[in-house]
Amino acid sequence: MVVLVTGANGQLGQSIQFIANQYPNVQFIYTDYQELDITNFESCLTVFAKYKPQFCINTAAYTAVDKAESESDKAHLINAVGPENLAKVCKEFNTILVHISTDFIFDGTSTSLSMTNGYKETDIPNPQSVYGQTKLDGELAVQKNWEKHFIIRTSWVYSQFANNFMKTMLRLASERDNLSVVNDQIGTPTNAVDLAEVLLKIITSYQTESHEVFGIYNFSNEGVCSWYDFAAAIFHQKGIEIDLKPIPTDSYPTPAKRPAYSVLDKTKIKKVFAIEIKDWKESLTVSLNHLN
Ligand SMILES: NC(=O)c1ccc[n+]([C@@H]2O[C@H](COP(=O)([O-])OP(=O)(O)OC[C@H]3O[C@@H](n4cnc5c(N)ncnc54)[C@H](OP(=O)(O)O)[C@@H]3O)[C@@H](O)[C@H]2O)c1
Repeated sequence: MVVLVTGANGQLGQSIQFIANQYPNVQFIYTDYQELDITNFESCLTVFAKYKPQFCINTAAYTAVDKAESESDKAHLINAVGPENLAKVCKEFNTILVHISTDFIFDGTSTSLSMTNGYKETDIPNPQSVYGQTKLDGELAVQKNWEKHFIIRTSWVYSQFANNFMKTMLRLASERDNLSVVNDQIGTPTNAVDLAEVLLKIITSYQTESHEVFGIYNFSNEGVCSWYDFAAAIFHQKGIEIDLKPIPTDSYPTPAKRPAYSVLDKTKIKKVFAIEIKDWKESLTVSLNHLN
């Protein structure tokens, strides 16, 4: 089985590479934007013609949430046109597309919360930022152009690879003795390696051409926290002493508006693919241990 990975130098791409040797029956083709620029349809066609993959995991994205506010054309090109190109090429080669999306498609303000467990796949998106809108446009482009897709929405992704909140907190703690982190944005961290494992589980457990399993799925680690709680857990687990202050979002203005609440309900993915999901603190320990 040939699995083509786009954006393979990003943190999810590197996380897939990290676990790939657990899948000896899978031939992974890792591409970065130099070999496969997802915004270039011809580039997609050429690479698919060369490798003829059964699956494509699209980890390529424009992920600079604040910068996207002033680079909306670029964000749209990578997050919406790119997935559209991939969906069209996947259709041509009968390749199943596994595309990654985000909790930032939600506004995080719903009070109706059918949400004891968070946002369900069927809840109505209402992005509040350019990044969130372009990611939603990417989802819609995939759905419109190729039915054989899995769209996996995830949140607060971190890992021992590339740049992310966990590594930023550790860097800041090495530079200063106090830090303020928002405590009124609530969600769930996701260890990118856990996400990579689930993507591979979906791919390897896919056996029939059953259209019923295609569609949108939520995935994050288990549990709920604020960014402040996340930072506190990082410092606690690393034994770092720092004066950490909880602050409201108003005190830390950013160009992009973020959802106040973006916990994802994972009932569907757990049931359909029979997976158990680690608690976010347990998974954080694993990731921090890999930094040592
Ligand atoms: N990070 C999070 O907190 C988070 C949360 C929710 C959802 N997600 C989603 O999860 C997925 C993986 O995110 P991540 O954290 O692994 O992102 P990442 O570390 O930013 O990796 C994305 C990769 O895509 C590459 N790329 C950019 N433009 C490309 C193009 N035109 N063609 C091919 N590759 C291109 C980037 O290369 P350059 O670095 O050279 O530009 C980078 O290597 C994304 O879909 C993201 O939207 C992430």
